Amino acid sequence: MIKQSDILTFLKSKSLNLNLIDRLKVNYRPLICPFDILLKYVDQNKSVFDIGCGSGQFCALIAKFTSATNIYGIEISKTLVLNARAINKEFKDEKTITFEVFDGKTIPIEIQKFSIVYMIDVLHHVPKNNQVIFLKEIYSKMAFGSILIFKDIDASHPFVYFNKIHDLVFSKETGNEISFQFAQKTVKNIGFKTIEKFKKTTFIYPHYFLILEK
Ligand SMILES: C[S@@+](CC[C@H](N)C(=O)[O-])C[C@H]1O[C@@H](n2cnc3c(N)ncnc32)[C@H](O)[C@@H]1O
Repeated sequence: MIKQSDILTFLKSKSLNLNLIDRLKVNYRPLICPFDILLKYVDQNKSVFDIGCGSGQFCALIAKFTSATNIYGIEISKTLVLNARAINKEFKDEKTITFEVFDGKTIPIEIQKFSIVYMIDVLHHVPKNNQVIFLKEIYSKMAFGSILIFKDIDASHPFVYFNKIHDLVFSKETGNEISFQFAQKTVKNIGFKTIEKFKKTTFIYPHYFLILEK
């Protein structure tokens, strides 16, 4: 597993030109979100798609620490897409690395070319009424045999309120987390096959992980 200290040092070096809030989010995100665990699923995959890529910090880690050669991030925020392009500039000659704005509803058809798809802490930002539709949209656009790494915060854990306070401070919203149990039932109903599932609380953040195959 890639060392947490290497992840933190690398991201600090990449975020220098971002505004204060985005810089804090990039620098300290690995302390909240277990990027080290998530990164290992890239494994031998050469093409990685990241839904809701933020400032492109996880894509930069993929570019730096894995052998993936084709990386594609989508984001609803134009500012964050610009951050992502800036943070990942150093890789543009050695890898195919793309960041695009999307409308938060329609997954670009390009996703079909990717063998592994990440969605890290995004679903709880999607309006409650659209969450199942959004997961169905992802499933319908992914290639058969490709993998979705779906990580989010467990609404059934009492610590979910720490995430809500965090989101209120940094995103000015309180989040629409779903429970791990509901997430499992929903992805199964949609058609995903669950390869692996687990929970891990980091500091005060109760994460769940679903490794899913279409
Ligand atoms: C907590 S951040 C996670 C960023 C990145 N995935 C990571 O793990 O570092 C959540 C991201 O979801 C994006 N987002 C918010 N609402 C969304 C929506 N309706 N659809 C897709 N993405 C959304 C936000 O702009 C933000 O970048």
